Amino acid sequence: MRYAKERVRKLDFIELANLRRSTRDYSDRVVDRDKIMRCVEAARMAPSACNSQPWHFIVVDDPELKDMVASATLLMGTGLNSFVKGAPVIVAVVNENANMRSKVGGFIKGKNFDLIDIGIAAEHFCLQAAAEGLGTCILGWFNEGLVKKLLDVPKLKKVPLLITLGYEKTGSTAVKVRKSIEDISSFNKYK
Ligand SMILES: Cc1cc2nc3c(=O)[nH]c(=O)nc-3n(C[C@H](O)[C@H](O)[C@H](O)COP(=O)(O)O)c2cc1C
Repeated sequence: MRYAKERVRKLDFIELANLRRSTRDYSDRVVDRDKIMRCVEAARMAPSACNSQPWHFIVVDDPELKDMVASATLLMGTGLNSFVKGAPVIVAVVNENANMRSKVGGFIKGKNFDLIDIGIAAEHFCLQAAAEGLGTCILGWFNEGLVKKLLDVPKLKKVPLLITLGYEKTGSTAVKVRKSIEDISSFNKYK
């Protein structure tokens, strides 16, 4: 099993990065809250522009509420995100107000630092999950208004991402497809 604990202990970082794949096939095994909180702790340690930390993580592990959030990720008439209801936990990442330095810097440079910060924190969460023997899938496609309503998120705040979390079903065949290293990198000049 890819996430066998004994193996995970011996991993160096690049192996962990390779191990983390989007899991879309979950077992119904309950996820211990201590493990979930270690994933949140890893996200808490993420870097952010001006150390702004513009995030709040809502862990949805109440089965009824979790199913309602899962319904908000479906695209009717397609199979998109139909796997989400099988995940025992969904984490909603709320975009909190950035600090003034990050806001001003982002405005001057025309960059959305909040989304960059949240992306990094989400990946910290997912890598820690992989180290805990847990699968994740980051979700960008969902009905944000409905998710906010279900989770009592204030109207003016945004929820850029959801993350599914749980144990992968045995025999799951998540594959990693990537461009070649030559395609994505060069020394000293663009291509
Ligand atoms: C910002 C973002 C949004 C994503 N949204 C979805 C989604 O709505 N549904 C889904 O099944 N996967 C989603 N994914 C997962 C990607 O499809 C996946 O990361 C990519 O295909 C690479 O595969 P891997 O994660 O297994 O390495 C998203 C990933 C990111 C980073």
